[in-house]
Amino acid sequence: MERVSAKDLFEKDEPIVMVAAYDAATAEIIDDIADVILVGDSVGNVRLGYDDTLPVTLEESLSHTAAVARGSERAMVVGDMPFASFGVSKDRSAENAARYLKEAGAGAVKLETPVDGGVSVDTVRHLSQLGVPVMGHVGLTPQQVRREGYAVQGRDEGEADAILERARELEEAGVFSVVLEAVPESLGARVTEALDVPTVGIGAGRAVDGQVLVIDDLVGMSDGTPSFVKEYADVRGVMRDAVEEYADDVREGGFPADEHVFGGGEG
Ligand code: KIV
Repeated sequence: MERVSAKDLFEKDEPIVMVAAYDAATAEIIDDIADVILVGDSVGNVRLGYDDTLPVTLEESLSHTAAVARGSERAMVVGDMPFASFGVSKDRSAENAARYLKEAGAGAVKLETPVDGGVSVDTVRHLSQLGVPVMGHVGLTPQQVRREGYAVQGRDEGEADAILERARELEEAGVFSVVLEAVPESLGARVTEALDVPTVGIGAGRAVDGQVLVIDDLVGMSDGTPSFVKEYADVRGVMRDAVEEYADDVREGGFPADEHVFGGGEG
């Protein structure tokens, strides 16, 4: 089966559906629904128990990306390069980015590409020229949390103009798509209007080319979600209820029952 490609996303005449997910089992469940599975560095705080995304290592990210690639066959898999695995030097950025394609089976990488930090447009151009499909990421970029916090970005005109300009530069450098995170809806619309490549929003309003949410947030597995998230289920509640019921059964002797035990001679 052919995977969704950057060209498919460019040509799509309906909104792009992107989900951040981290393991093979989840990838297998959503592979025929999502266009893109982003193996976000949000794995750090969502699944690995870190306070934020900064401690995520390249090896952890590659391992989760490879798991998602193994669990899927149709969706585009995008590996989200963790803090300081890119941007330190052009060559190191290229070597690390190539590992997502060569070792982890990703179709592309995402780099956080804030207005004033993280990575130079030149490095983005270098990766693109090498043949690594790159997704940019502007607005709120969580890898800058220790400098900027988690505030909505682009509320004032100067900041909004700078984000728009950055997105334009990224497109010129060869990105195939840009994530817009936590920006006013009007800025989401301006950036989407200005770019040929598709934009994918998270907390960026409706006038973008697609949406991305973290799987744990959208299925209600997280303990609290930002206001821009819609929870479509209560998996946390379902899980807790199931484990409580199991615990009661174990404690009261209701599990295992006859049908769960191996009989004497029959195996
Ligand atoms: O790490 C992540 O999951 C992300 C998305 C929320 C865009 O970067």
